[in-house]
Amino acid sequence: MVHTDPTLPAEGYRLTITPTGIEVRTSDAAGLVYARQTLRQLAGPDAFRAAPIPGRTLTVPCGVIEDYPRFAWRGCLLDVARHFRTKAEVLRFIDLLAAHKLNVLQLHLTDDQGWRIEVPDFPRLTEIASWRTGSMVGRHDGPERDGRPHGGFYTTDDLHEIVAYATARAITVIPEIDVPGHSRAAIAAYPELGPAPETPWEVWTSWGISTNLLHPSDYALNFFHRVFDHVLTIFPSQIIGLGGDEAPGATPAHGQFVADLAKYLTSRGRTPLAWDEVLEIDALPPMVIGAWRDDTAATRATHAGHKVVLCPESAYYLDHRQSDHPNEPIPVGYLHTLEHVHAYTPANAPHILGIQAQIWTEHLDTARRIDYATFPRLCAISETAWSPPLHDFTEFLPRLRDHHLPRLAALGVEYRPLTGPHPWQTRPDVPHTAHRPLPDRPGSAPNRRITPA
Ligand code: ACM
Repeated sequence: MVHTDPTLPAEGYRLTITPTGIEVRTSDAAGLVYARQTLRQLAGPDAFRAAPIPGRTLTVPCGVIEDYPRFAWRGCLLDVARHFRTKAEVLRFIDLLAAHKLNVLQLHLTDDQGWRIEVPDFPRLTEIASWRTGSMVGRHDGPERDGRPHGGFYTTDDLHEIVAYATARAITVIPEIDVPGHSRAAIAAYPELGPAPETPWEVWTSWGISTNLLHPSDYALNFFHRVFDHVLTIFPSQIIGLGGDEAPGATPAHGQFVADLAKYLTSRGRTPLAWDEVLEIDALPPMVIGAWRDDTAATRATHAGHKVVLCPESAYYLDHRQSDHPNEPIPVGYLHTLEHVHAYTPANAPHILGIQAQIWTEHLDTARRIDYATFPRLCAISETAWSPPLHDFTEFLPRLRDHHLPRLAALGVEYRPLTGPHPWQTRPDVPHTAHRPLPDRPGSAPNRRITPA
């Protein structure tokens, strides 16, 4: 029996399970999605399989559960630009987010290394910008390239399908088109977007931060108006991402370009989302800021009148290494153990919409690598998104180990075992960048370099 109960908090539900039946009260459609997920959790790992196991039936314990999330924005960014993920893989990823009661998928659709969304007005974005001739293998400064073309893009129909699939699971897909940095793929396709149209560029085969920015011309502004016009026909999300990060050498004209695009989105009734670098720009409309670089960004954003999503690189960048285990695959970035991720304590304040994990994919070139980097750390982030502050790792860990990891295994998720990678999850073949220490965190010192065998 399902009832709507407006006295429950937003996205909340109450499950009453007795020997004679199950009553579900939900505040809204999302609450019903979460009540169903909780019933599945109560039924045990078999409920996470795609078909019943012969001779086994599902049962749930009696009791009452009332539940609602702490944060309205419980997000995960998936970078499908550095390494493309097929539509089927994105749908599977949405299922995994839903299983963890997360409700925002930020799709990072464009970057220096690839453009992943078909835009009918600009066919070269898919003919040229959607693939590169090869990829850097491992570290940012090395000469290695694999010589293997990499690419892919989503058609308009694919994206409509992805959005509808996510919506049915109470997930909003927020598209991100990154400007004025991270734009080399678009410039390779349309050199008029760059500072020197006569100089041919290639879709970038390196990782790192490119110093080649969009040239903030009227042509580029008009071009991106038309790109966003198309994006807005596909994505009903109130929030639309325009990047704004890592634009070394940006001038006031680049800042004006970002502000103009932000205002364009506002004029279309949407709210722009950008990374905290844009706080250097004057005259932005009210926006959502992804605060990733340090704790002061959230405060600066609030003082400037924006809303904030906490996306801290110091805790929630899931491409970063999970341990100093000698076999940790491609151990870039800061040390983010499961315990560190669980320990991050976001502030509660009206302007803080919530929290978001980031899955950048320079070094995550397959869905299997994404599983490994994402789980179980994303489980800890989901706990933080749903639970009151100061939940306890010693309580979380056995619950994760004894109850949740078996669910992930039943789902077919190749998570990182708590004791370290399986042999087939290691990457002794790939050189990697030096580790970056987090000065204020014990155990975060750079560990030794792992040389290829
Ligand atoms: C970012 O990591 N460049 C947002």
